[in-house]
Amino acid sequence: MPFALFRVMIVYLFLLALKVVGVSQADAYPHNAATCERCHNLPTRFGGSLMTVQRIGTSSEGMFVPASEGGIHHRNGESEQSAGSAKQIIGERVSLSLLGDGYIEAIASRDIEQNTQRQQRQASLGIAGAVVSAPALEAGASSSKMRAGRYGWKSQHSSLISSCADSLRNELGMRNRLYPEEYPTHPASDNPTPFDTPDAKTHKTELERLAYEVRHTSPPTRDAFLFATSDAQAGEKLFEQIGCAVCHVPTYKTLPPGTRINGGTYKVPKFLGNAVIHPYSDFLLHDVGTGDGIPQAAKPEYLDQSTANKFRTAPLWGLRFRHGLMHDGDSPGTEAAIARHGGEATKVRQCYDHLTPIEKNQIQTFLKSL
Ligand code: HEC
Ligand code: HEC
Repeated sequence: MPFALFRVMIVYLFLLALKVVGVSQADAYPHNAATCERCHNLPTRFGGSLMTVQRIGTSSEGMFVPASEGGIHHRNGESEQSAGSAKQIIGERVSLSLLGDGYIEAIASRDIEQNTQRQQRQASLGIAGAVVSAPALEAGASSSKMRAGRYGWKSQHSSLISSCADSLRNELGMRNRLYPEEYPTHPASDNPTPFDTPDAKTHKTELERLAYEVRHTSPPTRDAFLFATSDAQAGEKLFEQIGCAVCHVPTYKTLPPGTRINGGTYKVPKFLGNAVIHPYSDFLLHDVGTGDGIPQAAKPEYLDQSTANKFRTAPLWGLRFRHGLMHDGDSPGTEAAIARHGGEATKVRQCYDHLTPIEKNQIQTFLKSL
């Protein structure tokens, strides 16, 4: 056998052996991936991706009951398998971008709540967003731990520590101080799942390190060249005129530096305070006709069945880096995503449908610049 071929075979066998070892270790406990970057990587670390997470549960007397691994059907490790039961409900959730999430955390709850009043004043549009009251879990029993939810497809989280702790537990399989429980499918006596303990050198937990890093990401920047074109400018005006901006709220100013939030556990730092940001979302839940009957919450005790068919208005900043749109990633582009806007968004979508091809193109150019 030629030496080159022999070398290729040795490398191949080595990689195969690694893979076998890797898989058997990975399968030891329920999780979806080994790193956050597996799902949060576009256009850069902590962005979004086309990876989806499958939510799973059953319907019982009109109520959704999450399955035993936090309502998630895990890719690796023991996971409740599809029983093929008629009452089973399954839904996909596409990975969200975390870029700029530190600024979102620093938005006052009051500013999110006021979006509902603005929508009520334009009653003829039929838009009635709902505020989610979500806990900053790290605030423990503090009376001020409930804030307007803003993270996740259901605005089920209000703080980055809570949202990252949830992901650490339910995506990577690592228990932590906010999610210490084992899944019922994986009893501790078996082989306890890893627990997030402080690093010997830095004294920081993985959770603290992750929240710190996410808070230091910049929001996605616009395509400045495209945004400066007359088409994009005209598109932005139309976006406001026909009512897209009633839900996709363009602008917020974050709380002043030093303001204590998350039940007093976190002070808005200088670099995140008093900043003008453009996330294009009201962070409220709406029924736009895309519901799949699955409510989600930070913890089971916060599950609100009335949110089963609603979704958070998807923030549109960084839109040009996303490909599979809407909660399930099923819409290949913005035209397809807009076409799926029914329910509360019906009137606004009809206005869009009645635009001329040139005007539609202007809105599309504006969306491409985000
Ligand atoms: C298997 C894919 C996957 C992995 C791995 C993953 N995530 Fe996510 N992430 C998602 C999905 C899907 C959502 C949307 C969840 C939902 O609301 O249904 C999300 C949402 C989030 C959000 C809310 C973002 C927002 O702006 O609304 C945060 C924060 C987050 N993830 C942090 C993390 C961290 C930190 C890690 C690593 C510990 C991680 N994720 C690992 C798929 C993943
Ligand atoms: C009633 C509130 C509402 C109105 C009005 C509205 N949207 Fe949305 N929009 C949503 C919600 C909620 C979602 C997420 C729905 C889902 O994932 O199923 C969404 C998702 C989107 C998405 C997909 C983004 C992504 O990252 O997946 C685009 C693009 C979009 N909207 C554009 C528009 C445009 C353009 C208009 C005006 C023609 C508009 N929307 C009007 C609430 C609204």
